[in-house]
Amino acid sequence: MLRDKHVASFTPTSGFAIEKICRKINFNKRNVIVEYGPGTGVFTRYLLAHSTPDSILILIERNEDFAHIMQETFQDPRLFIFHESAENVEQLLLYCNEQQADYIVSGIPFSFLPRPLRELIVRNSYRCLKEGGMFLGYQTFFQIDRFLKDHLDCDFDKVETEICVLNVPPLKIFEAVK
Ligand SMILES: C[S@@+](CC[C@H](N)C(=O)[O-])C[C@H]1O[C@@H](n2cnc3c(N)ncnc32)[C@H](O)[C@@H]1O
Repeated sequence: MLRDKHVASFTPTSGFAIEKICRKINFNKRNVIVEYGPGTGVFTRYLLAHSTPDSILILIERNEDFAHIMQETFQDPRLFIFHESAENVEQLLLYCNEQQADYIVSGIPFSFLPRPLRELIVRNSYRCLKEGGMFLGYQTFFQIDRFLKDHLDCDFDKVETEICVLNVPPLKIFEAVK
């Protein structure tokens, strides 16, 4: 985090928060799941453990060190790992021979991004989700709405917010449904 402010956290997300967020995913079917900002892979490990053998998981990580760590840590045929930025999600899905995703799980710190980039990421995320698909975002709980919630409200049909206190720091979880 000291070398790259976009990492935005000194500690990985807690197991409790991961469980609370991933409970919203239906793992009883084939899914195309995109993860923005996997970091060291705490969500990735959970998603792989619960996904069907024919599901795929596309990881988009902006930090080069983390992208390399992920490539070295995980050898799973269901995984595609990109050292890329989230706004390019549509091209990356096509590269994986997929048109649209069922879920996007996002840990990227929207408060560090300029407004046009926040809008672009949310709009592109909406476009590349299937009907009924979900954007699951987590941010620090003190984040004000204009950084993510307002953008989600603009583009998505239904947005719900929850707080998860069992994390350092506590988190706001957004469930936005297309
Ligand atoms: C708060 S950390 C979350 C790490 C991990 N997912 C966790 O839950 O512990 C945010 C992550 O998002 C990545 N990131 C920041 N901006 C990004 C962007 N525009 N596209 C993709 N990844 C990004 C950072 O490099 C970092 O790995």
